[in-house]
Amino acid sequence: STAPASWDRPLEGKVALVTGAARGIGATIAEVLSRDGAHVICADIPAAGEALSQTANKVGGTSLALDVTAPDAAEVLEKHVKERHSGGLDIVVHNAGITRDKLLANMDDGRWNSVIGVNLAAPHRLTTALVKSGTLNDGGRVIDVSSIAGIAGNRGQTNYGTSKAGVIGLVHAEAPELAKKDITINAVAPGFIETAMTAAIPFATREAGRRMSSLLQGGQTVDVAETIAYFASPASNAVTGQIVRVCGQSLI
Ligand code: NAI
Repeated sequence: STAPASWDRPLEGKVALVTGAARGIGATIAEVLSRDGAHVICADIPAAGEALSQTANKVGGTSLALDVTAPDAAEVLEKHVKERHSGGLDIVVHNAGITRDKLLANMDDGRWNSVIGVNLAAPHRLTTALVKSGTLNDGGRVIDVSSIAGIAGNRGQTNYGTSKAGVIGLVHAEAPELAKKDITINAVAPGFIETAMTAAIPFATREAGRRMSSLLQGGQTVDVAETIAYFASPASNAVTGQIVRVCGQSLI
């Protein structure tokens, strides 16, 4: 086959969902997918409020108050898609994520369960439901967000690191089954990226995070978003079950 004549708007006509789109990496993913031609459903928790509508307005998409851990999250999403997009959903980016750091001795069940719930259980449950209901089209794309903390450990992050290692497991496990519907699933594993999430880290740890990259600086949200855009585009038709680190060849 031959390469397309133009890659101007490779996602023209596609409908994409981005969870955790109110700010940070998710907001930039929404921008980049929209630039590439997709209609973007920007989803975030109800508490995200104005920030979510701002992202949605900026990218000319729609906003959806959606806690990915809510028991009816899949139904809410399916209803939203059905009412607005007769052609269904083409791209799902599971970007919503949280940290609840504590050293092992103080890692209580609440912190463990909430992080596993948002970062790992929700992407699995939503993907499964969207495929089962046919909301996600055959030939669709699922893109998960792991972390280098899921590849190498990080002090104080047994919950987070385990959830992000689990995401890598999910990608490997789901790829062969989704391939039957021509759906690809891949993940990015970002290193230290400059967002509100990392701004909350104590100064010394934050600096260490930046130095961990061979580029000796924190990455930007767009670095992650552009890799996700590749996984969403026809350029990656034959790529599934893969994890790409976006971390400036992190030293861990
Ligand atoms: P952030 O904290 O700035 O944004 C995360 C967004 O997810 C927020 O808008 C938040 O409201 C939303 N969210 C949280 N719980 C949710 C839920 N239950 N349902 C729906 N939305 C929810 O975080 P950031 O830095 O933009 O991270 C985005 C993703 O990238 C996360 O999965 C994170 O684990 C991952 N990541 C971030 C890195 C970094 O250095 N910033 C490094 C590696 C991975």
